[in-house]
Amino acid sequence: MSGLFISFEGNDGAGKTTQAKLFKEYLEGCGYSVRLFREPGGTEISEKIREIILDNENYKMKHMTEALLYAAARCQLVYEGILPALKGGQIVICDRFLDSSLVYQGVGRGLGIDVVKDINSYATGGIMPDLTFFLHLDFSEALSRKNYQHELDRMENQKAYFHNRVYKGFMELAESEKERIVTIEADKKPEIIAEEIADYFNYFVGSRGL
Ligand code: TYD
Repeated sequence: MSGLFISFEGNDGAGKTTQAKLFKEYLEGCGYSVRLFREPGGTEISEKIREIILDNENYKMKHMTEALLYAAARCQLVYEGILPALKGGQIVICDRFLDSSLVYQGVGRGLGIDVVKDINSYATGGIMPDLTFFLHLDFSEALSRKNYQHELDRMENQKAYFHNRVYKGFMELAESEKERIVTIEADKKPEIIAEEIADYFNYFVGSRGL
Protein backbone atom coordinates (compact mmCIF):
# COMPACT_ATOMS: atom_id res chain seq x y z
CA MET A 1 0.00 0.00 0.00
CA SER A 2 1.31 3.51 -0.80
CA GLY A 3 1.37 6.16 1.92
CA LEU A 4 -1.81 7.15 3.70
CA PHE A 5 -2.41 10.37 5.61
CA ILE A 6 -4.78 10.26 8.60
CA SER A 7 -5.51 13.10 11.02
CA PHE A 8 -7.23 13.34 14.40
CA GLU A 9 -9.25 16.44 15.29
CA GLY A 10 -11.41 17.71 18.12
CA ASN A 11 -11.68 20.20 20.95
CA ASP A 12 -8.95 20.50 23.59
CA GLY A 13 -9.36 17.52 25.90
CA ALA A 14 -11.47 15.36 23.55
CA GLY A 15 -8.85 12.59 23.69
CA LYS A 16 -7.15 12.92 20.30
CA THR A 17 -3.65 12.41 21.58
CA THR A 18 -4.52 9.20 23.43
CA GLN A 19 -6.38 7.86 20.39
CA ALA A 20 -3.65 8.84 17.93
CA LYS A 21 -1.15 6.85 20.04
CA LEU A 22 -3.44 3.83 20.40
CA PHE A 23 -4.10 3.90 16.65
CA LYS A 24 -0.37 3.96 15.91
CA GLU A 25 0.11 0.90 18.13
CA TYR A 26 -2.79 -0.84 16.43
CA LEU A 27 -1.42 -0.17 12.94
CA GLU A 28 2.06 -1.29 13.91
CA GLY A 29 0.55 -4.47 15.29
CA CYS A 30 -0.96 -5.02 11.84
CA GLY A 31 2.49 -4.67 10.30
CA TYR A 32 2.27 -1.13 8.92
CA SER A 33 5.13 1.32 9.13
CA VAL A 34 3.76 4.42 10.87
CA ARG A 35 4.85 7.98 11.69
CA LEU A 36 2.97 9.98 14.31
CA PHE A 37 3.27 13.77 14.36
CA ARG A 38 1.58 16.40 16.48
CA GLU A 39 0.56 19.90 15.47
CA PRO A 40 1.76 22.47 16.12
CA GLY A 41 5.08 20.63 16.28
CA GLY A 42 6.52 17.43 14.88
CA THR A 43 9.86 18.91 13.78
CA GLU A 44 12.50 20.80 15.75
CA ILE A 45 11.56 24.14 14.17
CA SER A 46 7.81 23.52 14.48
CA GLU A 47 8.21 22.63 18.18
CA LYS A 48 9.95 25.99 18.73
CA ILE A 49 7.08 27.77 16.99
CA ARG A 50 4.67 25.80 19.22
CA GLU A 51 6.34 27.21 22.33
CA ILE A 52 5.81 30.77 21.08
CA ILE A 53 2.17 30.13 20.20
CA LEU A 54 1.19 28.46 23.47
CA ASP A 55 3.17 30.69 25.85
CA ASN A 56 0.73 32.43 28.23
CA GLU A 57 3.07 35.45 28.24
CA ASN A 58 2.25 36.07 24.58
CA TYR A 59 -1.23 37.39 25.36
CA LYS A 60 -0.64 40.34 22.99
CA MET A 61 -0.47 38.03 19.97
CA LYS A 62 -2.68 39.20 17.10
CA HIS A 63 -5.06 36.64 15.62
CA MET A 64 -3.37 36.88 12.23
CA THR A 65 0.07 36.39 13.80
CA GLU A 66 -1.31 33.27 15.45
CA ALA A 67 -2.76 31.94 12.19
CA LEU A 68 0.53 32.58 10.35
CA LEU A 69 2.57 30.88 13.07
CA TYR A 70 0.37 27.76 12.93
CA ALA A 71 0.78 27.78 9.14
CA ALA A 72 4.56 28.22 9.42
CA ALA A 73 4.85 25.29 11.83
CA ARG A 74 2.69 23.24 9.46
CA CYS A 75 4.77 24.13 6.41
CA GLN A 76 7.93 22.84 8.06
CA LEU A 77 6.16 19.65 9.15
CA VAL A 78 4.69 18.99 5.70
CA TYR A 79 7.99 19.28 3.86
CA GLU A 80 10.30 17.84 6.51
CA GLY A 81 8.08 15.13 7.95
CA ILE A 82 4.80 14.29 6.24
CA LEU A 83 5.69 14.26 2.53
CA PRO A 84 8.91 12.22 2.90
CA ALA A 85 7.07 9.66 5.04
CA LEU A 86 4.22 9.36 2.53
CA LYS A 87 6.71 9.01 -0.32
CA GLY A 88 8.33 6.19 1.63
CA GLY A 89 4.95 4.39 1.76
CA GLN A 90 4.39 4.96 5.48
CA ILE A 91 1.09 5.73 7.18
CA VAL A 92 1.21 9.24 8.62
CA ILE A 93 -0.94 10.02 11.63
CA CYS A 94 -1.26 13.67 12.52
CA ASP A 95 -2.60 14.82 15.88
CA ARG A 96 -4.38 17.87 14.35
CA PHE A 97 -3.85 19.36 10.89
CA LEU A 98 -5.38 22.13 8.76
CA ASP A 99 -8.94 21.58 10.07
CA SER A 100 -7.77 22.87 13.47
CA SER A 101 -6.68 26.16 11.88
CA LEU A 102 -9.93 26.46 9.91
CA VAL A 103 -11.91 26.02 13.10
CA TYR A 104 -9.76 27.70 15.80
CA GLN A 105 -8.46 30.64 13.75
CA GLY A 106 -11.10 30.80 11.00
CA VAL A 107 -14.18 30.35 13.19
CA GLY A 108 -12.99 30.76 16.81
CA ARG A 109 -10.90 33.87 16.16
CA GLY A 110 -13.23 35.06 13.41
CA LEU A 111 -10.59 35.39 10.67
CA GLY A 112 -12.83 33.50 8.26
CA ILE A 113 -12.38 30.03 6.84
CA ASP A 114 -11.42 31.28 3.35
CA VAL A 115 -8.61 33.51 4.64
CA VAL A 116 -7.17 30.67 6.70
CA LYS A 117 -7.46 28.30 3.73
CA ASP A 118 -5.56 30.80 1.56
CA ILE A 119 -2.70 31.22 4.02
CA ASN A 120 -2.40 27.47 4.38
CA SER A 121 -2.41 26.76 0.68
CA TYR A 122 1.04 28.38 0.61
CA ALA A 123 2.09 26.46 3.70
CA THR A 124 1.01 22.97 2.65
CA GLY A 125 0.91 23.07 -1.15
CA GLY A 126 -2.66 21.81 -0.78
CA ILE A 127 -1.99 18.42 0.81
CA MET A 128 -4.94 17.13 2.85
CA PRO A 129 -5.50 14.00 4.93
CA ASP A 130 -7.10 11.02 3.18
CA LEU A 131 -9.13 10.38 6.31
CA THR A 132 -9.87 12.42 9.45
CA PHE A 133 -11.26 11.18 12.76
CA PHE A 134 -13.17 13.94 14.54
CA LEU A 135 -13.53 13.10 18.23
CA HIS A 136 -16.80 14.66 19.26
CA LEU A 137 -17.10 15.67 22.91
CA ASP A 138 -18.95 18.64 24.38
CA PHE A 139 -16.41 21.45 24.73
CA SER A 140 -16.92 22.09 28.45
CA GLU A 141 -16.57 18.42 29.35
CA ALA A 142 -13.49 18.19 27.14
CA LEU A 143 -11.82 21.23 28.67
CA SER A 144 -12.50 20.15 32.24
CA ARG A 145 -10.47 16.99 31.50
CA LYS A 146 -7.53 19.24 30.60
CA ASN A 147 -7.75 21.09 33.90
CA TYR A 148 -6.88 17.88 35.70
CA GLN A 149 -3.90 17.11 33.50
CA HIS A 150 -1.75 20.26 33.53
CA GLU A 151 -1.69 24.03 33.81
CA LEU A 152 -3.65 25.44 30.90
CA ASP A 153 -1.72 26.98 27.97
CA ARG A 154 -2.55 30.21 26.09
CA MET A 155 -5.09 28.53 23.79
CA GLU A 156 -6.73 26.39 26.46
CA ASN A 157 -7.04 29.52 28.60
CA GLN A 158 -9.36 31.19 26.09
CA LYS A 159 -12.85 31.90 27.36
CA ALA A 160 -15.65 29.32 27.17
CA TYR A 161 -17.38 31.08 24.27
CA PHE A 162 -14.22 30.66 22.17
CA HIS A 163 -14.16 26.90 22.83
CA ASN A 164 -17.87 26.73 22.11
CA ARG A 165 -17.33 28.40 18.71
CA VAL A 166 -14.53 25.95 18.00
CA TYR A 167 -16.83 23.07 18.97
CA LYS A 168 -19.59 24.26 16.65
CA GLY A 169 -17.03 24.95 13.92
CA PHE A 170 -15.81 21.35 14.05
CA MET A 171 -19.34 20.02 13.84
CA GLU A 172 -20.14 22.16 10.80
CA LEU A 173 -16.91 21.19 9.09
CA ALA A 174 -17.55 17.49 9.75
CA GLU A 175 -21.05 17.87 8.34
CA SER A 176 -19.78 19.56 5.18
CA GLU A 177 -17.00 17.04 4.49
CA LYS A 178 -18.57 13.70 5.29
CA GLU A 179 -16.46 11.91 2.68
CA ARG A 180 -13.26 12.62 4.57
CA ILE A 181 -14.24 13.39 8.16
CA VAL A 182 -15.64 10.61 10.33
CA THR A 183 -17.28 11.66 13.58
CA ILE A 184 -16.52 9.45 16.56
CA GLU A 185 -18.48 9.95 19.77
CA ALA A 186 -15.76 10.45 22.38
CA ASP A 187 -17.72 10.11 25.62
CA LYS A 188 -16.80 6.44 25.96
CA LYS A 189 -13.93 4.42 27.37
CA PRO A 190 -10.69 4.90 25.40
CA GLU A 191 -10.53 1.17 24.46
CA ILE A 192 -14.02 1.29 22.96
CA ILE A 193 -13.22 4.43 20.95
CA ALA A 194 -9.96 2.85 19.77
CA GLU A 195 -11.88 -0.19 18.54
CA GLU A 196 -14.33 1.95 16.58
CA ILE A 197 -11.46 3.80 14.96
CA ALA A 198 -9.70 0.57 14.00
CA ASP A 199 -12.96 -0.85 12.59
CA TYR A 200 -13.54 2.25 10.49
CA PHE A 201 -9.96 2.17 9.24
CA ASN A 202 -10.37 -1.44 8.08
CA TYR A 203 -13.62 -0.58 6.34
CA PHE A 204 -11.90 2.44 4.70
CA VAL A 205 -8.93 0.51 3.31
CA GLY A 206 -11.21 -2.33 2.22
CA SER A 207 -13.66 -0.04 0.42
CA ARG A 208 -10.83 1.71 -1.42
CA GLY A 209 -9.06 -1.50 -2.31
CA LEU A 210 -5.89 -0.31 -0.54
P1 TYD B 1 -2.65 20.37 20.92
O1 TYD B 1 -1.21 20.01 20.86
O2 TYD B 1 -3.61 19.45 20.27
O3 TYD B 1 -3.06 20.59 22.41
P2 TYD B 1 -3.28 19.49 23.49
O4 TYD B 1 -2.52 18.26 23.10
O5 TYD B 1 -2.76 20.15 24.72
O6 TYD B 1 -4.76 19.27 23.43
O7 TYD B 1 -2.86 21.81 20.27
C1 TYD B 1 -2.40 22.96 20.92
C2 TYD B 1 -3.43 24.04 20.83
O8 TYD B 1 -3.34 24.69 19.56
C3 TYD B 1 -4.85 23.60 20.99
O9 TYD B 1 -5.47 24.50 21.89
C4 TYD B 1 -5.46 23.77 19.62
C5 TYD B 1 -4.65 24.87 19.02
N1 TYD B 1 -4.52 24.86 17.54
C6 TYD B 1 -5.02 25.94 16.81
O10 TYD B 1 -5.60 26.88 17.38
N2 TYD B 1 -4.83 25.96 15.47
C7 TYD B 1 -4.16 24.98 14.81
O11 TYD B 1 -4.00 25.03 13.57
C8 TYD B 1 -3.65 23.86 15.57
C9 TYD B 1 -2.91 22.75 14.89
C10 TYD B 1 -3.86 23.85 16.94
